[in-house]
Amino acid sequence: MTLRKIAQIGHPVLRQRAREVSPEELASDSMQAFIDDLVETMHDANGAGLAAIQIHEPIRVCALEVKDNPRYPYKPNIPLTILVNPVLTPIGDDTFENYEGCLSVPDLRGVVRRHAQIRVQALDRHGAPLDYVARGITAGTYQHECDHLDGVLFVDRVEDPTTLCTWKEFGRHREEGFKQTVAEVVERWGS
Ligand code: NI
Repeated sequence: MTLRKIAQIGHPVLRQRAREVSPEELASDSMQAFIDDLVETMHDANGAGLAAIQIHEPIRVCALEVKDNPRYPYKPNIPLTILVNPVLTPIGDDTFENYEGCLSVPDLRGVVRRHAQIRVQALDRHGAPLDYVARGITAGTYQHECDHLDGVLFVDRVEDPTTLCTWKEFGRHREEGFKQTVAEVVERWGS
């Protein structure tokens, strides 16, 4: 496995629509090795998720995993999940405010409004269909990663620019307040 370079905001690769992956391509040794690299790079960077486009491959593949993440100590855990050609469909109109960061946007966080419940349809890394509902903070992570596949970064969705802050200032001035939001979201949506 190989650690890949993570594209940073300003690099054009992050701003394109990634293309679908065919079943034959997904089954190939090279694609399976690529997915291993995606996961290893996500782990190395302590990401809660990583989209293929962020490591310079504009294909509709992303990885998610939250396991006592030091970057996001308040996030509910998500088992390692690979999504191929994902489609997210909001369920209902409920939303919440999520304080997001991104491995492609160094040292910046900001508040983004996310759907509280989404239907997730995708293939797993072996081509088996996935179809389930993600809720709460976890649903926010899904929406962030799938935005990458359409060339969208969280900063595009920040409605109030005064919420933008560095990670250090987040810890100093915003984390306590956001932990309260997380507790309310987890209480209502279960994750
Ligand atoms: Ni990101």
